[in-house]
Amino acid sequence: MSFPQNRMRRMRQSDALRALVRETTLEPGDLIYPLFICPGSGVRNPISSMPGVFNLSVDEAVKEAEEAASLGIGGLLLFGLPAEKDETGTGAWIDDGIVQQALRALRQTPAAKKLVMITDVCLCEYTSHGHCGIVNKSGSDFAIDNDPTVEILAKTAVSHARAGADVVAPSDMMDGRVAAIRSALDAAGFGMTPILSYASKFFSAFYGPFREAADSAPQFGDRRGYQMDGANLREAMREIELDLEEGADMILMKPSMPYLDVIRSARDRFDVPMGAYQVSGEYSMLQAAFERGWLDRDRATLESLIGIRRAGAEFIVTYFAKAAAKLLG
Ligand code: PBG
Repeated sequence: MSFPQNRMRRMRQSDALRALVRETTLEPGDLIYPLFICPGSGVRNPISSMPGVFNLSVDEAVKEAEEAASLGIGGLLLFGLPAEKDETGTGAWIDDGIVQQALRALRQTPAAKKLVMITDVCLCEYTSHGHCGIVNKSGSDFAIDNDPTVEILAKTAVSHARAGADVVAPSDMMDGRVAAIRSALDAAGFGMTPILSYASKFFSAFYGPFREAADSAPQFGDRRGYQMDGANLREAMREIELDLEEGADMILMKPSMPYLDVIRSARDRFDVPMGAYQVSGEYSMLQAAFERGWLDRDRATLESLIGIRRAGAEFIVTYFAKAAAKLLG
């Protein structure tokens, strides 16, 4: 049977019919809101390439968390801008590090109990050279020294758990970091702290604006030696498989929009909770189009997120979290 017996438009006649047959849902609870924490108090420094996103001192971050909780947002992803950077990223794991301070303050905030508190575990915001690991200068070419980096990442994850993180999320792409973090957490008494592994993270131009927000642009070279080549889907599956073997509880895919096929493949292949990160560049280009009046702000915001959910991600890290939650609420 075909047309005129079949008319696809029958089911598109009203809001109620369209809602009945809608295949993909999007709720505020699916969204994770990233925050960039900086020293000081009363600080709300705008990020020029990311309208609506700020570097926030701890007290301001607490206010954002309260608002996020009242909007029904699922959780926060915390990044830190330390007062000082050094060669080995000491600010990432010290007890009074910036993320650790934020976690303690958020733990004192009753409304924040509704939020899953996730921390980004990486060194690039804390190293003077802006790389995600320790620089090995012994060879002729610079390289990031994997195994010593993994030790520092494990120390960082433990210090986040100690300060109150619900979930730790390594985003560095070093080999073996999930296993090292798992055993360090277990040894420190945090056997119940889950790991959300940025399992498949591609080397991407779409992280550009984040580097302004987190002040983490590499001072030399680039991240191709540890982040994945954007052309590779099979390799992404292998990265995920290895992280799961090492003990990752959930996986995070990144970026989203140029990699929706990778998200779909991962969803079809692995029965684990999976999120996707709608990264800074995805946000900035939409914002730029909104500012010019080229795209409808509300519709394009929700469409970009539904697309990621339809590709198979259960939750989405997005700078649109508050805006989207308001539209959905
Ligand atoms: C840290 C990290 C980055 C992002 C998340 N964690 C930057 C990078 O890898 O260069 C990017 C997030 C975004 O662009 O919104 N390694």
